[in-house]
Amino acid sequence: MSRAPDRAFFGQPRGLVGLFFAEAWERFSYYGMRALLLYYMTDQLLDGGLGIGSGTAKSLIAVYGSATYMAAILGGWISDRLLGNRRATLLGGVLIMCGHICLAIPAGAGALFASMVLIAGGTGLLKPTISASVGDLYAKDDPRRDSGFSIYYMGISVGAVAAPLVVGTIGQSYNYHLGFSLAAAGMAIGLVVYVCTWRHLGPASSTPKNPLRFSEVRRSRLFAVVTAVVVLAALVATAVGTGWLDAGGIVNAVSVLAIALPVGYFTVMLRSSRTTPVERARVRGYIPMFAAAVCFWCIQEQGATVIAQYADESTDLTAFGFGIPASWFQSVGSVVLIVLTPLFAALWLRLDSSPRSPSTAHKFAAGLVIAGLSYLLLVIPGLHPGNSSPLWLVGSLAIVTIGEMCLSPIGLSATAKLAPAAFATQTMGLWLSSNAAGQGIGAQLVKFYDAGSAAAYFGLLGAAAVVLGLVLFGFAPVIRRRAERPAEAARQELETAR
Ligand code: PHE
Repeated sequence: MSRAPDRAFFGQPRGLVGLFFAEAWERFSYYGMRALLLYYMTDQLLDGGLGIGSGTAKSLIAVYGSATYMAAILGGWISDRLLGNRRATLLGGVLIMCGHICLAIPAGAGALFASMVLIAGGTGLLKPTISASVGDLYAKDDPRRDSGFSIYYMGISVGAVAAPLVVGTIGQSYNYHLGFSLAAAGMAIGLVVYVCTWRHLGPASSTPKNPLRFSEVRRSRLFAVVTAVVVLAALVATAVGTGWLDAGGIVNAVSVLAIALPVGYFTVMLRSSRTTPVERARVRGYIPMFAAAVCFWCIQEQGATVIAQYADESTDLTAFGFGIPASWFQSVGSVVLIVLTPLFAALWLRLDSSPRSPSTAHKFAAGLVIAGLSYLLLVIPGLHPGNSSPLWLVGSLAIVTIGEMCLSPIGLSATAKLAPAAFATQTMGLWLSSNAAGQGIGAQLVKFYDAGSAAAYFGLLGAAAVVLGLVLFGFAPVIRRRAERPAEAARQELETAR
């Protein structure tokens, strides 16, 4: 058979085109909805909003984002054991679309919560499976893998950049529900693109990687799991129904869960008898990088909460002679990412082929330090709260995006390489949960922000990120030894144990 089609898209497999556009449209719907959400929740009832207090709304948005990516571990399991990536992505997309339709109907807070459940569940299924499908296009040692992930990540930004401009503008200037219906339409287009192009996906995406054989599942175990889920659901429903667990309580619970989940998952992975010593050394090397990613997302994801609020309250939105909608700031990062991706792709190629090439940990450390700097920059306008120039925000968002390019596509690619075959999609879910943990911590931090304390808030968080990034930089050589030469690390460990 001819190998030509395999290089049909700028030297990349043809399957990447479909994944690029399907993910672009999915992100369009997600970020469009998110660009509107804070304003919809906090706006007065008479103005078409829900009249929720700004503190509660910010925390709810943060835990919602967190729950969405936590669900990715479950979504990964469903794909690895039951559905396979292709069917899981499709099902996830349909759930997401239903979630946006809920918001398109003006049905108040009930519809908002229904949509949150649908979108979190759907994204939990779609996001890890579509990312793992990118990995499925390449053989383990294919050198095009990293650049493939960078191109795919650019698709994310293409969707994210258009979303606030279209969904945000229409939603804020005409009607919130019209905005949300555009998000639903975006997901529908994404699904059509996906179904029309999925024949180009590798066979690995069609079936579960490690199918669950129901005849092998012990009845007692199944019973225990089902009972635990039912009891937990009943407890949560009672707690919410009786008012014992209010919005603040839910936020705290999700924050704790978002941190506990990856900690638990790593513990299981390290202890499992199915993990070989080599894999164990590799996982140990991955943990500090995961922690750095958590800190990074904690700052970057505040773009939709604290930064959105800063744009609305403390920025001169008429600085250029016309009224800039506050939601437009959500697009700045993506524009920067799209413009700079080719530059960074070339930079990595050059650095990676030099004798003193930076390791994944070095790139992660750089990403975290840069994120810290983006917050430190905001200390200056934060000292004079009032009408600061929009350029401060643009500068800060541009800086954090440079950090993102050092960390996020590199993280996806490193995860795809790290994953044991049977756990491929779950490990991708684990990577996404670094974002969940970051937002879970963020949900607690955002409570301390208000316009008056902006300088202190940005200064403290920024400085903390810079320090942690420098610590990771110091440990990078050790991590490199573990992650890149795990066999050696495993032998050393055995020797020390003796
Ligand atoms: N911009 C990224 C995306 O939407 C943010 C993200 C990174 C989300 C890592 C989850 C995990 O894909």
